[in-house]
Amino acid sequence: MSTSTPAASEPARIGRRRPFPYRESTALVTGASRGIGAEIARALAARGIGTLVLSARTGADLDSLASELRGAHPTLRVETVRANLAEPQAPARIREATDRLGLSIDLLVNNAGFGAHGVFEEVGAAKDDDMIAVNVTSLVALTHLYLPAMVARGRGGVLNVASTASFQPVPFMTTYAATKAFVLSFSEGLWAECQEKGVGADVRVVCLCPGGTETNFGDGMKRGRFESSKQSSPREVADAGLEALDRGVPFHVVGTANYVGTLGARILPRATLARFTAGMFRPDDLLGAPPRPDTATKIGAAVGVGLAVAVGVGAAVLVGRRRQADSGALAD
Ligand SMILES: NC(=O)c1ccc[n+]([C@@H]2O[C@H](COP(=O)([O-])OP(=O)(O)OC[C@H]3O[C@@H](n4cnc5c(N)ncnc54)[C@H](OP(=O)(O)O)[C@@H]3O)[C@@H](O)[C@H]2O)c1
Repeated sequence: MSTSTPAASEPARIGRRRPFPYRESTALVTGASRGIGAEIARALAARGIGTLVLSARTGADLDSLASELRGAHPTLRVETVRANLAEPQAPARIREATDRLGLSIDLLVNNAGFGAHGVFEEVGAAKDDDMIAVNVTSLVALTHLYLPAMVARGRGGVLNVASTASFQPVPFMTTYAATKAFVLSFSEGLWAECQEKGVGADVRVVCLCPGGTETNFGDGMKRGRFESSKQSSPREVADAGLEALDRGVPFHVVGTANYVGTLGARILPRATLARFTAGMFRPDDLLGAPPRPDTATKIGAAVGVGLAVAVGVGAAVLVGRRRQADSGALAD
């Protein structure tokens, strides 16, 4: 039997294939009034979470979900906290509310978010400012408010909801995609930091990247040709997120086709990629007048198609391996 003990600096083995300890945990879910957030709350309740704190702006929807969950899970404690995350003080107020309730948060689900579709100049600065505040600033602030205590306890989790938009620019949803690129980079950085918290520590940071999902996202806005692509159900997204949390992986793209799309985004020339997504997301009223590609773009597209074909040949084998490596599971 080996008697060697791991060095203190050895990265902790994040609990891969060890389910998150839901029963002993208290979770805070932002954007829990509907859509993906409400489904994450239901999925957490189904997995036996001890206490749930639901947050969003719409009190009536939070109350109705809270009653539903209390009815279905009589031992579950559910609290609601109304907050508008576009307001700078909202994260601190949420923290004050959970302190007043005597709760320490073991799992923070940063799900609240919204997007806007349209030409950048028409979306306008006010909406973009709110989007950055909700999708980025409040997510970082809430993480600052709750992660340090998890690190001190040596256990906990942060589940950040980003998007497949995190992997490439999305013209006509330009600011939204940039906020989600931030969330992916932020989450992966924190994931790696949390792996170095010492032997036995188990603080997981997961970035969940759904593609199109059947919710009221952006007040039901239509997103050009993208709308005709396959959409996931919010339930599917929620389950995928908690499975990723159970595996302790840094990020998870929901759906194999979406994952393959993100690989394409890493291979194609960036100008080609931006033009391609512009075609997917161009508003319907502009669809009749696509810009004529210049020579450089045509060459880029030809190179891109060639590369895509070459990649496609080996894809069936490589995707599975790549997905495993991306998930960090190879470290086990
Ligand atoms: N649906 C998609 O196609 C899709 C794809 C990829 C990623 N996502 C991401 O998934 C997450 C959830 O979106 P969803 O699809 O479930 O959309 P949704 O149905 O519109 O739900 C959005 C949630 O965020 C909350 N929210 C919005 N603005 C807020 C604010 N200022 N302060 C506090 N809460 C706010 C909403 O609650 P209140 O209105 O009650 O405040 C609601 O609970 C978002 O981060 C979104 O970017 C969605």
